[in-house]
Amino acid sequence: MGFPENFLWGAATASYQIEGASKADGKGESVWDSFCLKDDAVFNGDTGDVACDHYNRYRDDVKLFKQIGLKGYRFSLSWPRIFPSGTGEMNMKGVDFYDRLIDTLLEQGIDPCVTLFHWDYPQELYLKGGWLNSDSSDWFANYAEQAVECFGDRVKRWITQNEPQCFIDLGHRTGYHAPGDQHGMRQVLIAAHNSMLGHGKAYRAMKAVRPDVAVGYAPVGITGIPVDPVRDIDAARRFMFGHRGDSLFTNTWFMDPVFLGHYPEDGLKHYGKQMPEFPESDMAIINAGADFFGTNIYHGDLVKENGEPYGEQVPFAPGQELTAMGWQITPEALNWGPKFLYERYGKPIIITENGMAGTDLVGMDGTVNDSYRIEYLRRYISQLKRGVEEGIPILGYFAWSALDNFEWAEGYAKRFGIIHVDYATQKRTLKASANWYAELIRSNGSNL
Ligand code: BGC
Repeated sequence: MGFPENFLWGAATASYQIEGASKADGKGESVWDSFCLKDDAVFNGDTGDVACDHYNRYRDDVKLFKQIGLKGYRFSLSWPRIFPSGTGEMNMKGVDFYDRLIDTLLEQGIDPCVTLFHWDYPQELYLKGGWLNSDSSDWFANYAEQAVECFGDRVKRWITQNEPQCFIDLGHRTGYHAPGDQHGMRQVLIAAHNSMLGHGKAYRAMKAVRPDVAVGYAPVGITGIPVDPVRDIDAARRFMFGHRGDSLFTNTWFMDPVFLGHYPEDGLKHYGKQMPEFPESDMAIINAGADFFGTNIYHGDLVKENGEPYGEQVPFAPGQELTAMGWQITPEALNWGPKFLYERYGKPIIITENGMAGTDLVGMDGTVNDSYRIEYLRRYISQLKRGVEEGIPILGYFAWSALDNFEWAEGYAKRFGIIHVDYATQKRTLKASANWYAELIRSNGSNL
């Protein structure tokens, strides 16, 4: 029992959050480059201009990953680094960077797992309407196809898009993330649809180039945790797959089309006349395939049976522990989440992100003693193990994040890394959690 021998233990990052070098070597502008310049868009006026300077320090970073013993490393490509205008001419210096990074990882025996789109959308395409443009899915598919042409000989695990809930809902409805738009619902639904169409077209294009690569999709969402693990299971399940209100921060709006080939009925009913008409043939493309389900799970909500369609969300008890993001620490989310997702969508699961932000001080002795993160990881991964032992096909786990990094609208204020980054000097320090995680990987989970 326990984790299978080939379980993929890894850590994850994303291009804009760590690379820096925002104008180096012909990189084009991304919507995050321009969003960061807006007043009050990002905490403290922080930008990703330098971030962790990973673009220049990737070799040393990979050495640290090796020291931790990571078997896999999930990172994203910066679309505008490869295609400065989003389409057209490729920037070979950008391609070279990823070639070198991938080769360095492979030299160290670390499996590269590449996300094509983790939110740094080319500004030039945004100026043409971005995801609202009816060509946007083709732009994305073209980028995906070229990326797999360049790197598919060495990268065998790909993710098309990370958390459409965020780049669509936060980016186009609430305006909290880049590009910072606050469109009406109809426009937001068009953007969401085009992004999914982009996934489907990318999937087909990538498989046509290299049938041997695995291509997944990594949405986020909400996780229902039954208060009583017998009585409330179905309520938690209905809660998790229900559609309430305008927010697209739901599971089903993105997952049902991609994995099941239709929009959720309750969502369609909610949007009613606001729902645009799309060609019928689109759904078959959106549902073209996904070889695995990448899920980012940080916390869950407590749900109790009350006979209502989505059960009853129960408030947390006073004193419920929160991370530095203000997110509840709910380890059981890593048991129920994958279980419910597998039940509904039937795809092997990879935990593509899980972790916590903490107030990580470098101690006077130079170490970073993040014992709370060890406790967080230990509890969450123990719950994941239950799922593995219950027979859910969970292939891997990626801690978010390998390095402290640019936490989007929160700037550098929130630290998620298992490696501490001093942004003034770019010094890296392995946190206690990195050492603990190293032992976890070495013992394949037996130190839980
Ligand atoms: C994103 C990451 C982010 C993390 C913590 C996810 O929403 O994919 O980019 O840093 O969670 O907020």
